[in-house]
Amino acid sequence: MHKRHLIVLGLSAVSLVFSSAALAWNAERGQSISQVCAACHGPTGTSIAPDFPNIGGQHRDYLYRALLDYKLGNRQDPIMAGQVAELSRQDMRDLAAFYAAQEGLYLKR
Ligand code: HEC
Repeated sequence: MHKRHLIVLGLSAVSLVFSSAALAWNAERGQSISQVCAACHGPTGTSIAPDFPNIGGQHRDYLYRALLDYKLGNRQDPIMAGQVAELSRQDMRDLAAFYAAQEGLYLKR
């Protein structure tokens, strides 16, 4: 095979890896950017006071959608609007993955 072909193949493999990493839901990265959220929602999403919803253990897609809706203005809350203002979609995916992976509250039945 030609050297040039190999380079092209190599480059497309690299870009494939990068694009799939960007689409992944990275809970570890989510945890690293969740410190600011912990002030209200607690370190694992079990909130520190009844004014703040528990988000630990909630479904990932629900959490992502909620964050996206605050960002897009579909859901309006002055506190959360400020929180998501600087977050990218990837940040919100990673935060959603992190909180979804937490134990959350147990329901006694
Ligand atoms: C200053 C306190 C505060 C901080 C900090 C904060 N939140 Fe919130 N969060 C709230 C309040 C209050 C609500 C409820 C708003 C409403 O009524 O829609 C909320 C709602 C949410 C919801 C929707 C919950 C549901 O059940 O629908 C999610 C998800 C969420 N926050 C995630 C985050 C994330 C992620 C961060 C960090 C980037 C964060 N919050 C930072 C106070 C806070």
